[in-house]
Amino acid sequence: MKTNVISKPNLIVAKNRQKEVTNFHYLDNTVSDFIKEYAKGKFYFIRTYGCQANVRDEETMKGILELAGFTLVDEEKDADIIIINTCAVRENAEDKVYGEIGNLKGLKSKKKDLVVAICGCMVEQPEILNKVLEKFPHISLVFGTHEIQNLLGYIEEVIRTKTRLIAVESKQGDVYEGLPACRNNKHKAFVNIIYGCNKFCTYCIVPYTRGKERSRHFDDIIKECKDLVDNGYKEITLLGQNVNAYGKDLDEGKDFSDLLESVAKLGIPRLRFTTSHPWDFSSKMIDVIAKYPNIMKFIHLPVQSGNDEILKLMGRRYNSKQYKDLVDEMKKKIPGLALSTDIIVGFPNESEEQFLDTIEMVKYVQYDSAFTFIYSPRFGTPAANMKDDVPYEVKSKRFIQLVNELEKSVSASSERMVDKIYDVLVDGLSKTDSNMLSGYTESNKLVHFKGDETLAGQIVKVKIIKSKTYSLIGELVNE
Ligand code: SAH
Ligand code: SF4
Ligand code: F3S
Repeated sequence: MKTNVISKPNLIVAKNRQKEVTNFHYLDNTVSDFIKEYAKGKFYFIRTYGCQANVRDEETMKGILELAGFTLVDEEKDADIIIINTCAVRENAEDKVYGEIGNLKGLKSKKKDLVVAICGCMVEQPEILNKVLEKFPHISLVFGTHEIQNLLGYIEEVIRTKTRLIAVESKQGDVYEGLPACRNNKHKAFVNIIYGCNKFCTYCIVPYTRGKERSRHFDDIIKECKDLVDNGYKEITLLGQNVNAYGKDLDEGKDFSDLLESVAKLGIPRLRFTTSHPWDFSSKMIDVIAKYPNIMKFIHLPVQSGNDEILKLMGRRYNSKQYKDLVDEMKKKIPGLALSTDIIVGFPNESEEQFLDTIEMVKYVQYDSAFTFIYSPRFGTPAANMKDDVPYEVKSKRFIQLVNELEKSVSASSERMVDKIYDVLVDGLSKTDSNMLSGYTESNKLVHFKGDETLAGQIVKVKIIKSKTYSLIGELVNE
């Protein structure tokens, strides 16, 4: 198959943060006659890996494809277009994708016109893109995180010319408004408020794959949230790699606390936000969270490490004392606050003492939940060039020690909820037990309980009867 290269990624360009104005594009989503005709009776499948940014991108791609007339299917084998939306944050995320793409080879050989597309953060890395192109000749379309709005144009080109198409441009990034979305959940919605990241933590690939921090206009976000409230949504999660930086790049005189307050006032029953960077978290934001009952008392506040030297090498821009002071202020001002975090074990050359500072931090904060990772070198990031003399077995041992330590506070936090009654937003039937419903408390704890499926999307009272550490068992309280 011939290859048409529109653009390829470049890490030096991806790193650029020279001040340039963000272009805002307001799209009207016209679909070409060719695609309208082609899409009739055609099916698509999307598999998404990675964070909420990718999940929200999936919803946009679904919106675009549905608008054109394609229909979603649950299995790859029934699809005419397969999109694999990838994540590059750690090596194991990438390995899963290689497995998945390899499995599609057989399908392509049976169905010659099948379009196999790969997009997302993995293909933003030049080495990975080249590897993928070489290893998997059955991939016919590759596009990056900045190109989603062109999806239909690319599909048309691939089908018309029977040519493999590569469109992955490294850039600081624009903002696209008006793209359709087909949301995955009828009650809970993700709303992007800021794209990209400027933090460049030394271990992290995200700033290279997602471009610069660029906020959406305040009014555009409010409009999207208002539409969700009007359509009966029960929960909005404001999304960004670093939501607390919202507005810094605009001259609208609004920051994250202003936005949070305005969205809370729209009357959405539950308002959440993620992810918070400790560096940008102001007292004003804490005050707004404390003031509005519909802003959930749950903050995901990645700490990454409890040791000051490691934090410095990671480029996190805070030390352990500043982090603890922030947590103290939050807990003081927000009664009943639940905290979660991300922690990386085994950053290059992390010593036993440095690791024990992380254990100490975990003991201090008493997290309600946490995500833990073993450091994974990402090509092109500064940390990947650091000498690392810590054997993997040592890292694994520390990882287990950390998980065990976290389990104590997570378990205590769940145990404290037993015999008490909480509001739970019902998701629907439990994925693991179809006799049970599942939903989340305001503090983001997963609860399983017996009840009628028609309760999906409602906020109900549930009495917690048992803790299973990472989830809870409850029973409906009849009012
Ligand atoms: N913007 C968010 C999320 C970034 S990715 C934030 O700053 O918190 C989610 C988590 O993945 C990070 O918090 C970090 O703990 C982890 N992570 C990122 N790069 C990693 C790497 N190279 N190895 C291991 N974990 C990593
Ligand atoms: Fe990655 Fe750091 Fe940005 Fe989070 S803040 S996305 S960890 S560079
Ligand atoms: Fe993964 Fe990209 Fe998100 S690397 S974590 S999908 S921003």
